[in-house]
Amino acid sequence: MISALIPVSEAVVDDDALHSIYAYPSMDRPYVRFNFISAADGAATTGGLSAGLGNDGDKRIFAVVRRLADVVLVGAGTVRAEGYEGPLVDEDAQSWRTGNGQEAHPAIALISGSLDLDPSGGFFANAPVRPLILTSRSAPADRRGALEAVADVVDCGEDTVDPSAVLTELGRRGLLKVLCEGGPSVLGAFQRSGAVDELCLSLSPLLAGGDGPRIAMGDGPGQPIPLRLASLLTEDSALYTLYRVRR
Ligand SMILES: NC(=O)c1ccc[n+]([C@@H]2O[C@H](COP(=O)([O-])OP(=O)(O)OC[C@H]3O[C@@H](n4cnc5c(N)ncnc54)[C@H](OP(=O)(O)O)[C@@H]3O)[C@@H](O)[C@H]2O)c1
Repeated sequence: MISALIPVSEAVVDDDALHSIYAYPSMDRPYVRFNFISAADGAATTGGLSAGLGNDGDKRIFAVVRRLADVVLVGAGTVRAEGYEGPLVDEDAQSWRTGNGQEAHPAIALISGSLDLDPSGGFFANAPVRPLILTSRSAPADRRGALEAVADVVDCGEDTVDPSAVLTELGRRGLLKVLCEGGPSVLGAFQRSGAVDELCLSLSPLLAGGDGPRIAMGDGPGQPIPLRLASLLTEDSALYTLYRVRR
């Protein structure tokens, strides 16, 4: 049973309340929401994956924010680690989306510089919609050729993928409600570019230990981005924060 700490409420937070709390603002440009989970000691993984950190409440919120998104954006490292095969939303969510004017499935966009991705792998073979790969002009031509058979491949920078070019491409495709599910290198790149609007961060009541990454990493800290706490929910000692960038 999820309950709300901010806004202060006695009421149990049902799915309608979650839809309202996590609704995207009306924007005429791509709005970038990151969704992460970390352990109480800052670890973003346990045993190399994030899956061991979430409880039922986190899974519900994870499903709701996917349901609301036009596009799920994710880095190649996360796809290699976590698979991302098959539909990203269940049948109930697909019906909800079509009833609310969205495509049944969110688009899936993958950031990769190396294009070290298997075109015959399950990510592409089982994708319900043709994936979009966002890469750079310096990516190996042979890998690009093979991937173009199974995905749209778009250059968003010379040597690395530039977050602002990514958002230009997503906006051109009408994909304004952006849900970025990481991982840490992608959040680091977007933080350094200032291309972040929101962070949904679940805090797991766990001392995970180990050498897992934090939720943002990469070269240089960039300009720190101040955040404002817009919502704080809790269930079973886990905290679910929703931070918005202070403009
Ligand atoms: N706790 C959480 O909520 C959470 C969420 C997501 C992931 N994770 C965990 O994070 C780990 C993966 O970390 P990660 O940092 O490797 O994941 P990542 O950020 O998903 O992927 C990193 C890869 O994305 C590509 N990339 C990112 N930024 C780029 C840029 N500006 N230009 C070009 N390419 C860029 C590169 O791909 P190429 O190598 O193909 O060039 C890079 O190696 C996994 O263990 C996963 O389980 C945790």
